[in-house]
Amino acid sequence: MKRRPLVVANWKMNKLPSESSAYIKHIEKELIRYPDVISVLAGQDVLLPAMLKAAKETSVAIGAENMYWQEKGAFTGETSPAALEDLGVTYVIIGHSERRNYFRETNEMVNLKAIAAIAHRLIPIIAIDEPIVQGDDNDRSHWVVNQVIESLEGISAQQAQHVILAYEPTAAIGSGQPITPELAEFSLRRIRLTLADMYDWPTANAIRIMYGGSVKPNNALELMRQPDIDGVLVGDAALNPDTFLELCRLAN
Ligand code: G3H
Repeated sequence: MKRRPLVVANWKMNKLPSESSAYIKHIEKELIRYPDVISVLAGQDVLLPAMLKAAKETSVAIGAENMYWQEKGAFTGETSPAALEDLGVTYVIIGHSERRNYFRETNEMVNLKAIAAIAHRLIPIIAIDEPIVQGDDNDRSHWVVNQVIESLEGISAQQAQHVILAYEPTAAIGSGQPITPELAEFSLRRIRLTLADMYDWPTANAIRIMYGGSVKPNNALELMRQPDIDGVLVGDAALNPDTFLELCRLAN
C-alpha cells in the first residue's frame, strides 16, 4: 500500500509569530511543486493564529506541539483539544521525547491526549522515543513496543489508521548524529509488527510512521528510501525555510 510521504517541521520553542508568517510566505509558492508530500509545520500555541492565517491559501498544514486531554476546566496554562479544533489546527504532536523527559509525560498521559485529539478531529502525531539504555536489544525493543501499545490503548483499528507515529531515538535528537537508515528501518519495522499484532496487517500498513532525530537534506533521502519510513519529523534543520523545502523536494 502506498502511503503519502510526510515532512513535519517541529519548530519547538524557537520562532516568533512574525517569523512564522514570513517563513510560510517564503515556502508557499515552491511547495506547489511537491504535490505528493504532506507538509506540516508545528509551532508553539502562541504562534498558531499567525501560522494559520499565513497558511490559509497554501498546501502546508499546521500542527500544535502539545495539548491537554481535558475538554475544559481549571487547568491554568494548558491548551484544550477543543481550542485547537476551533482554531483550525490539523495536527498535534503528542508525547514528544522532550515532553516525556522534561515534563514527565507518561504513556498513560499520551494515550489520554491521543484519544482526546481523535475526538476533536485532530490528527495525533504520537512520538515514540528510545533513550539510551544499558539493557540488551530485547530491553530496548520492549521499551519501544510498550510505548506503542500503551499509547494506542482503546483506539480502534479504524481510528488508528489516521494516527501517525514518529520514532525518535533520544540521542539522535538535536545532536547532529542520526542513527543509520538500517537501524531506523529496524525500529520502524518493529513498530509496524507491533501494530499488526495489535490490529491487523491492513491497519498496520495504513498507519504512517516517521523517523526523527538529526534529519538533514544530506541524510533524508536514504532514510526515506527505507520501506517502513513514511516521512521525517525535523527540528533544527527545518528552522530554515529553504532546508524545509529541500526536504519536501527529496520526499516528493
Ligand atoms: O521533533 C523533532 C525532533 O525532536 C528532531 O529534532 O531534527 O533537531 O534532531 P532534530
